[in-house]
Amino acid sequence: MEGATTNICYNLLDRNVHDRKLGDKVAFFWEGNDPGDELTVTYRELLQRVCQFSNVLKSQGQKGDRVSIYMPMVVELVVAMLACVRIGAVHSIVFAGFSAESLCERIMDSQCSLVITADGFYRGDKLINLKLLADEALQKCREKGFPVEKCIMLRHLSKAAEDDLSSQCPPAKRSCPDLQVPWNPDVDLCWHALLRGASDVCEPEWVESEDPLFILYTSGSTGKPKGVLHSVSGYMLYTATTFKLVFDHQPDDVYWCTADIGWITGHSYITYGPLANGATSVLFEGLPTFPDVSRMWQIVDKYRVSKFYTAPTAIRLLMKYGSEPVQRYKRNSLKVLGTVGEPINPEAWQWYYTVVGEKRCPIVDTFWQTETGGHMLTPLPAATPMKPGSATFPFFGVVPAILNESGEELEGPSEGYLVFKQPWPGVMRSVYGNHSRFESTYFKKFPGYYVTADGCRRDKDGYYWITGRIDDMLNVSGHLLSTAEIESALVEHAAVVEAAVVGRPHPVKGESLYCFVTLTEGATLSGPLEAELRKQVREKIGAIATPDYIQNAPGLPKTRSGKIMRRVLRKIACDERDLGDISTLADSSVVEQLFRDRCLTTP
Ligand code: WT7
Repeated sequence: MEGATTNICYNLLDRNVHDRKLGDKVAFFWEGNDPGDELTVTYRELLQRVCQFSNVLKSQGQKGDRVSIYMPMVVELVVAMLACVRIGAVHSIVFAGFSAESLCERIMDSQCSLVITADGFYRGDKLINLKLLADEALQKCREKGFPVEKCIMLRHLSKAAEDDLSSQCPPAKRSCPDLQVPWNPDVDLCWHALLRGASDVCEPEWVESEDPLFILYTSGSTGKPKGVLHSVSGYMLYTATTFKLVFDHQPDDVYWCTADIGWITGHSYITYGPLANGATSVLFEGLPTFPDVSRMWQIVDKYRVSKFYTAPTAIRLLMKYGSEPVQRYKRNSLKVLGTVGEPINPEAWQWYYTVVGEKRCPIVDTFWQTETGGHMLTPLPAATPMKPGSATFPFFGVVPAILNESGEELEGPSEGYLVFKQPWPGVMRSVYGNHSRFESTYFKKFPGYYVTADGCRRDKDGYYWITGRIDDMLNVSGHLLSTAEIESALVEHAAVVEAAVVGRPHPVKGESLYCFVTLTEGATLSGPLEAELRKQVREKIGAIATPDYIQNAPGLPKTRSGKIMRRVLRKIACDERDLGDISTLADSSVVEQLFRDRCLTTP
């Protein structure tokens, strides 16, 4: 589509309101963390709010600017992202569970000129002081010589202060005595005050087909997150088409994807794909277990959800509580169930299929990546015969292959590296600011192919089965984490000389983090030190990366050339005594010692 111009916001909103006459159709049923806290937004209202905020953004910046968005799951998050798109700015959304340090790193890497955040939010009964974290990130940026000029803050929980009080400022609905909202008048701007008087007419900025749409960071195996860059028309076409076909979208559907918009699943399948199709979605701020473990099914009945999309980790979590909390609700509106994020184990698949879907609803197990923009391997509901645990076959236009170590394509039943042979519209276009990293990460190992870094098996019927990552990445609750990034966070602590992190299977999270640390002379791994190390990782990366196990390792198993043998550490973490070939191990007494001191308790 090179040479053509468009605007995604126009396609998602104006076209649906004006050409398709969907103005009164609900775009989002927003369901807050607390049951009863809810809002309904139609396509017309969404368009109007986006236009108003676009005018606000125009007064703060221009086309091509990068805007960092650090917000909870509220309608204004969608408004902020689409307003960026409308004026041709590039959004970089940072999941609100990331630490200040991670936010700072992302702001600096993409050189954002503006940050949009909120005062705070509740996750279950836990209050997150988001503005405090955003301020800390901005302070770190300043110290590193990258001052961000402006920060727009939405009041989600707090009442407006006297000075920026406006009639448009919603009264605080939720009680939050512990909320802290520091205010820096040189930098901070009030979302509501800026909107006062902003016009709700805003002509979209027509952009080139290949212009950047957004940046979204994903963990990299070297430890430094990669700014995955997607461009406008390819991504628009791909998310719209996969959404329509993979969920068999129908005009009267109510669709619910439980992901956070801070991840690619939320970008593609809460905002872009559904809105491009004029769909009605549920936008949920809360947790599957709050106030109780029936919450998901209560919401399904409340809005009569027909298409439901979640992660295996959520299914495994709810499975622990049995079928009764599910059966308390009818769920008779459900038609298609989806999963994403990691391989789904057959037990969880069966539970999802029989208990949640009562064997009526096909399951679409969708394999894809931040980098692919949309679904790559997936069944089409009720058309593809399912096999529990298999993402089945490629989507239209996707050409997978399985390669062996020497890069030869394997035919028929086989196992090896999953690659794609042909480009597809939604493929990422670059790593922001580092095109050579894009080339070397995805196209160097096997020239001529896109490398997923996943292992894969193809069975005799041609079904694809993802076997997991083959680089040094871990998948914890559907989130990819880089072992190198966690290791460097641990090593930054004064008491740690060296660290090695491996995955250990976990019944709910998929994988848990097992960390080996070599301490400085004289230090011992006491309870308080363990707590400090956990805190260190949380502050560097975020709560999702909190170590589960920490083991003192006076020595780490290394090859004679000094390379840590992770394969051996993985065996130790899982208590598997059969170590395979360890002829390259420099000192085998190290391994004996590590087996003796294994962490036995489940955290
Ligand atoms: C990695 C990508 C794509 C949105 C969420 C994750 C794993 C993802 C599946 C699936 C088996 C899966 C892969 C992939 N993965 N979906 N259906 N079956 N594995 O996005 O953070 O970019 O992670 O998640 O290992 O490479 P991401």
